[in-house]
Amino acid sequence: MKILKLGGSVITKKDEQTPTINYENLRRIAGEIAESNQSQLVIVHGAGSYGHPYAREYRIGEKIENPQDLNRKMLGFSKIHQSVNELNSLLCEELANQGLPTIPLPPSAFITTRNKRIDKADTIIIHKYLKKGFIPVLYGDVVLDENESIQMAVLSGDQVIKFVAGKLQPERVILATDVDGIYNKNPKKYPEAMLLETISSAEQIETDKGNIVDVTGGMGGKIKELISLLDLGIESEIINANQKGLLKKALKGEKVRGTTIKRK
Ligand SMILES: Nc1ncnc2c1ncn2[C@@H]1O[C@H](COP(=O)(O)OP(=O)(O)OP(=O)(O)O)[C@@H](O)[C@H]1O
Ligand SMILES: [Mg+2]
Repeated sequence: MKILKLGGSVITKKDEQTPTINYENLRRIAGEIAESNQSQLVIVHGAGSYGHPYAREYRIGEKIENPQDLNRKMLGFSKIHQSVNELNSLLCEELANQGLPTIPLPPSAFITTRNKRIDKADTIIIHKYLKKGFIPVLYGDVVLDENESIQMAVLSGDQVIKFVAGKLQPERVILATDVDGIYNKNPKKYPEAMLLETISSAEQIETDKGNIVDVTGGMGGKIKELISLLDLGIESEIINANQKGLLKKALKGEKVRGTTIKRK
């Protein structure tokens, strides 16, 4: 069984201030997934422009100031969920067009967090769908949080990846994003940045801490989740899905350009 994260950076136009799909990528990627012929696959997708702008606007996960603020945040929660759910539908529709039987499993419906980390989740439903041959599709979503002062949190697709990989013990975890992998610093800002073929700790890697686009930590958050997966004995790899054919190759088990997160 394999787990695939489709970054919001590849299936949406992430720099847009309003939800904008990247249809070209979405169609091609759905095709590559189908052509790679997976027997058991779980997909998790990020939110891109369908989530981050709203999450920032409504400050979900920040302290609730008063009853009015609670109402506003609840409405924001509802809007964000509707928006990421819409993205999920577009993806599942493309996968269905390729003959792939997906089933959306929205984290808001079965996962809660405590201080923004996954606290409770019943994974039996994921196992059951997988066993029947469905492709469960989870995504970055808003969820209820046990901490009364925040009550709600944004759950990143990357944290979902870490969680489901820990539960399902996949043979491979592939994260598809819009850069070739992890560099020593942000390649979009520093042309001289160097790609790291393997990493086993977060040391010596600069990420944009002040990244205003990604409310869930961008590349820094991703690295943190993947390194903590190593404690469970699970390796992962980051590849560039903007590049045609790469995802298909990676899903088929071929070695492609990217970063592998593994023990020294
Ligand atoms: N050291 C680094 N190496 C690689 N990318 C970096 C680094 N530091 C910052 N980045 C940025 O991280 C971005 C990828 O993370 P981002 O969270 O935006 O994508 P994603 O996880 O695919 O999307 P989403 O969060 O919507 O699912 C890259 O586009 C790059 O600009
Ligand atoms: Mg991200």
